[in-house]
Amino acid sequence: MTTSPILTMENVTRLHTDGPRTIAALDNVSLSVAPGELVAVMGPSGSGKSTLLNVAGTLDTPNHGHIIINGRDTAGLSRTERAAIRRRDVGFVFQHYNLVPTLTVAENVALPLELDNVPRREARAAALAALEGIDQADLADRFPAEISGGQAQRVAIARALVGERSLLLADEPTGALDTTTAESVMALLRSRIDAGAAGLLVTHEPRFAAYADRTVWLRDGQLVQPHAGSDAR
Ligand SMILES: Nc1ncnc2c1ncn2[C@@H]1O[C@H](COP(=O)(O)OP(=O)(O)O)[C@@H](O)[C@H]1O
Ligand SMILES: [Mg+2]
Repeated sequence: MTTSPILTMENVTRLHTDGPRTIAALDNVSLSVAPGELVAVMGPSGSGKSTLLNVAGTLDTPNHGHIIINGRDTAGLSRTERAAIRRRDVGFVFQHYNLVPTLTVAENVALPLELDNVPRREARAAALAALEGIDQADLADRFPAEISGGQAQRVAIARALVGERSLLLADEPTGALDTTTAESVMALLRSRIDAGAAGLLVTHEPRFAAYADRTVWLRDGQLVQPHAGSDAR
């Protein structure tokens, strides 16, 4: 049985102009991620990793090529339609958790649903279920300032996956965490992928890339094969 990919990137190029120069932050990148698959993205600083995630999640728009999410080509969609895809299909986890300090943990997790006009009571129930799913239900009524960095990053993963979101995009999610906490955040991410989501994980660390099913390498905006004797490990 073959399953269709959740994310397909076809010949994606993203150009930036820097004075007289044009930089290809992404240069003809093609990549597919299936349900249950986590792909690690590695490469030097400035190689295009964050651009890849932002374009994959429609936060940024390519100059050429196609981004197809759950069978829908995002090229030609309006800003409003792309925003709806970001709310319903895509969850982002960044190095800084971006929890809203004035909302409780449960309210933070419910926020994407409420922005999508899900009734408040239903949004809260979904948020509590998502928190339960990561064993953090007891944090529901605390504020971000009252929880640890590791707890906040787990909450960010719950928020990224609340509702039916199937594409998880994590840009160095463990960057601000100690090793033990980072390992538990990675195990959580892995378990959400095993439950059927698809994911892209940007990381500098081979031990976190080891949680992925495969690793792709970026250099100057292009996917490359790692060469023998590289300093990657
Ligand atoms: N908004 C922007 N304007 C101009 N150049 C940019 C912009 N965003 C990224 N770049 C350039 O694109 C390249 C890739 O950046 P980025 O995706 O942030 O790399 P990484 O995440 O691997 O460090 C870099 O050369 C960066 O300077
Ligand atoms: Mg980056």
